[in-house]
This record gives sequence, structure tokens and C-alpha cells, in this order.
Amino acid sequence: MSFTDWRFGLFVHFGLYALPARHEWVKNRERLTDEEYQVYFDHFDPDLYDPVAWARTARAAGMKYAVLTTKHHDGFCLWDSEVSDYTVAKTPYGKDLVGPFVDACRAEGLGIGFYHSLIDWHHPSFPYDLNHPQRDEPEWPERDITAYTDYLHAQVRELLTRYGQIDIMWFDFSYPGRDFEDGRPGFGKGKDDWRSEELMAMVRELQPDILINDRLDIPGDFTTPEQYQPAGPMTRDGVPVVWEACQTLNGSWGYDRDNLNWKSPDLLVRMLIDSVSKGGNLLLNVGPTGRGEFDPRAVGTLDQIGAWFRQHERSVRGCGPSEFTPPPDCRYTQRGDRLYLHLFAWPMQHVHLPGMAGKVRYAQLLHDASEIKCTVADPNQAAQNTTMGGQPAGTLTLHLPIQRPDVAVPVIELFLD
Ligand code: GLC
Repeated sequence: MSFTDWRFGLFVHFGLYALPARHEWVKNRERLTDEEYQVYFDHFDPDLYDPVAWARTARAAGMKYAVLTTKHHDGFCLWDSEVSDYTVAKTPYGKDLVGPFVDACRAEGLGIGFYHSLIDWHHPSFPYDLNHPQRDEPEWPERDITAYTDYLHAQVRELLTRYGQIDIMWFDFSYPGRDFEDGRPGFGKGKDDWRSEELMAMVRELQPDILINDRLDIPGDFTTPEQYQPAGPMTRDGVPVVWEACQTLNGSWGYDRDNLNWKSPDLLVRMLIDSVSKGGNLLLNVGPTGRGEFDPRAVGTLDQIGAWFRQHERSVRGCGPSEFTPPPDCRYTQRGDRLYLHLFAWPMQHVHLPGMAGKVRYAQLLHDASEIKCTVADPNQAAQNTTMGGQPAGTLTLHLPIQRPDVAVPVIELFLD
């Protein structure tokens, strides 16, 4: 099974920012100095970290792969890097977090990805820019990025040689030419800073089968819309591309205790379906707490997604877009001769499928395999009294129960001729 069959994955943003628990950009937002941020390093001790539980929760939710932040913009490394002291090994926790995560995912049959920040707000050779926490200082230090970029490459080499086969490399992010809002030069960074071609070549040499995302400021293997759902299948220069929407549970990636902007499980299921209907994947994020656990709100949401997924896996996994056009408030996905009609709104008794007359052998509600009757009305029949009018030629009409099935999104499985 390949990346485009997986369709649903887990993103995990874990690091020092779990302790302030007010967004993973807290160092930037609050302009914290290294000294001020150090308190989180000194208290980092995720004693309840249990990646087996994470991986099982993900699998039960229907996810097929998992991507972990090996380093985020704050520069903190979740593994015992040879080229840095700013790692988990030097915190009170004192040991590697990445290896156990990889082992747990593998044991649960999940594909494995590493998110790795190109940006680094801790490294002494990373030049200040518009996003740097110390951007307001009147004097910016002179910095040559070369030593930082060497470090970046060395760390990626460590990650891709220590843990066996890795399926996805998820770099984040490039912002060449980006300036301050008031027009002052922002010294945004891009491919020349990261030496992206060289970095990508090394990744491919170390892991020939890996997929690399598109945030190195050069084209990658897949595109990464963030916190929005694309309006349709994504393309580059008119050619369809592989894509993966990354989405949060509540708008923040890192654990954000007081943020109540939680998406409902129903909405998240619709986002998953919407992605697949447009040929994309959904990478859904959890920000574990400073103790190393998924908090109850995240677990509750994933459980509910899993309840839907258990009965509806086959309308998502291995499916892609359909050539047919769905009726309003619906999404189609398709795999071979199975067409899946996802009903985002539940109509009164009838749903009309344009162009599907004569193409459907059998129809059933997917969650309970109960038959759905299909009819084709005479297009010349006028609507009157209790007689439903004919629909445009070629329309297939499905007859639904009045009671909406009690599932997050009802799905009708159509067996095509
Ligand atoms: C970003 C943000 C970030 C998050 C990521 C996920 O661009 O900087 O904090 O890690 O996207 O896609």
C-alpha cells in the first residue's frame, strides 16, 4: 500500500512548547530569549510518554502513518544528536524519544515520517529574520548561515541513518523574500540558505524510497496545504500533484491548554472525505501534553473518528476521486467498481444522481449493508400531487430512509456495472 492509498495519517507536534502549553510558536510570539525559554528545557520530563499507546490510538482512528516533529522551530531535538547539546538527552527525561516512536509505529503497521524544521531559533549561526524571537532587538548580530546549514544536513543524516526505513521527510518551511508587514526587509529564507538541492539529494541517497514534501523551496514529491481544504484536486502547471492537507484539532499544533477551538469529530470526518474525494490525504495533528500523553479531548475525538472509520474504511482507504459529479452536499470517492456517495446533509427520502442511470448494479448503506432502492423516473413525467417529477435523462434516484443513520457521515456504497 502506498502513500496515496493510506489517505489518513497522524501528525504529532511534541517538544518543549508542550510545557508553556500556549502554541508551538510561543518563543516567537512572546519574543522569549534563550535564557527565558531554558526553563522548559530544564523541566522537560514526559514521564508518561508511551508511543505504543499513541500508535494504537492512531491505528484505531483509521490512520495508516504517523509523522513526528524531530525538531521544531525552537531548535529542540527529540533525539540524542551527536552535533547538539540542545536535545532530549540533556533534559531531565534524559533519553531518545524518536527511536521508541519509530518502533511503536512499525509494530502497529504504520508508515513513518519525520517532520524537521528548517528554521532554528536556538542555533547560534541561524541569522535573525522576521520570524526570529529576537527580531525586535535594535542591533542584529552578524551571522553566516553556513555553519547552521551544515548542522541541518548533519542532523538529517543522523535521522535517516539511525532508525531504519523512513517513509516521509517533512521539512518546514521556506519563506524566501518575505518581509515585515511594514515593508522592512525580513530576510526570509529559502533554497539557497538550506542548500535544498544538496539536502534533497542526500535524503534520496540515504532513503531511496522516501517521499519528500514541498517546503524546501524546490518542488517535492507532494504538496502540503495547511489549515485549509483545497477547492478541488491540486495541480502544478496544470498537472495533478500528490497532496496532503495538514490540519489541527483546535488551530494549534503544539499542546495548547486553554484553546477551546476544537473541531467536531463530524467536521474532521468530512474533511477526511473531502480530501480523498479530491485526490488528497489528511494528516491530522495531535499535540501531546508535557507528560507525554494525548489529552482526553484529543483521544475522545480520535475515538469518535475511529468509530466512523471502523464501518467506513473502504470508502476512504485506497480510494480516490471519481470521474462522476456528485449532487449538492455530497462527495464521491471511488475504488474500481465501487463508488461511494458521502451525504454531508441528509435529504428527505430522495437523492438524485445525475448521469448514473443504468450504471449501478446494487446500492447499500455502508455502515449496515442495508439495501437502498434505486429508480429511474421518466424524464417527461411532470411533478404533480404525490407524483415526483422526472429528472433529467440519465438520473438515478436513490430512496433513503427518513431516519438519518446515527453515524458521523452516512455513506452509500454503489456497485457499478
Ligand atoms: C507551520 C508552522 C507550524 C507547524 C506547521 C505544520 O508552517 O510553522 O508551527 O509546524 O506549519 O504544517
